[in-house]
Amino acid sequence: MTPYQSGIIAEPSSDAFFITLNVKRSLISEFKNALAAIPELVSKVQAEFADAELHAAVGFSKLIWSELDIKQPLELDLFPSLKGPETEISPTDVDLVLHIRSMRHDASFQLSQNLFNLFSDCVELVEEVQCFLYKDSRDLTGFVDGTENPQGEQRKAVALVGDEDAHYRHGSYFNLMRFSHNLAKWHKKDLKTQEDVYGRTKVDNEEYPSAEKSPHAHTKRTSLKDQHGKSIEILRQSMPYGNLTDQGLMFASYGKSPSHFNLMLESMIMGDEQGHTDHLMKYTTAKTAQAFFMPPNSWFSKFQQ
Ligand code: HEM
Repeated sequence: MTPYQSGIIAEPSSDAFFITLNVKRSLISEFKNALAAIPELVSKVQAEFADAELHAAVGFSKLIWSELDIKQPLELDLFPSLKGPETEISPTDVDLVLHIRSMRHDASFQLSQNLFNLFSDCVELVEEVQCFLYKDSRDLTGFVDGTENPQGEQRKAVALVGDEDAHYRHGSYFNLMRFSHNLAKWHKKDLKTQEDVYGRTKVDNEEYPSAEKSPHAHTKRTSLKDQHGKSIEILRQSMPYGNLTDQGLMFASYGKSPSHFNLMLESMIMGDEQGHTDHLMKYTTAKTAQAFFMPPNSWFSKFQQ
């Protein structure tokens, strides 16, 4: 078993479940008693579906952490409220998230059932979203998503807490947003307008030269550097979801600190000093916005009776 929950770092999958839950406060001790079993339960289902590349990460928000009577991760906070010139983001924080991913829908299904059953009556389901790989890793707007993600060992360096919070080393800050797309509006736009929105070409997925990128382009607004010129990075694990009436992206990102994600979102919604906001937001609406911490695997044994 890895010291971190394996769903954080895992390579892109073809299937994912994002499940959000609230804990019944009257059953908080029963809930706490269930936590110790999580790492073993995940390993057991992984062994049952050995070829499925099944991974999970279970996370807790600040709302529930304060009920656990246990030291909090240094930077754990609720999702920020943001009001920009065109768009507003309203947090919809919940207690708990299950991020389950694999190459086989039956494996994801089995693990989601087993984890949900483990909590039994202690939790209430808020939302269950099942995601799928669309074409060659494209968002439903038709653009490849995830290209500039960190690769190899850099994924751990970007996503996992290090010695700065020794108590929570190998944990990860997780942000989840369900974006519901207005695809009818998007598909009315010509190719050049769509490509300008991202600052990348659609079919070949090539980055625009810097001088040709609009300050409103999504990749311009999210490609940030710190005061030393070092790239500010997150590890995105987003996937499309959809049915006949609602289609969009479950945006999901991991970071060793929540500040990198927060800075990017601010840059998208509030814009830069000249007020250049992210024009991708004209075609999509954030329906949920939640912040969690995914503790290291060793943390769960604290709840052993
Ligand atoms: C890049 C889609 C929301 C952060 C991209 C790319 C696409 C995309 C297609 C270009 C390829 C690549 O992945 O590198 C979307 C969609 C979103 C969304 C459809 C919501 C509807 C967000 C949010 C954040 C974010 C909320 C962070 C707050 C990034 C970053 C990059 C990126 C860091 C890479 C920029 C670069 O270095 O070029 N996104 N994204 N995205 N996105 Fe998003």
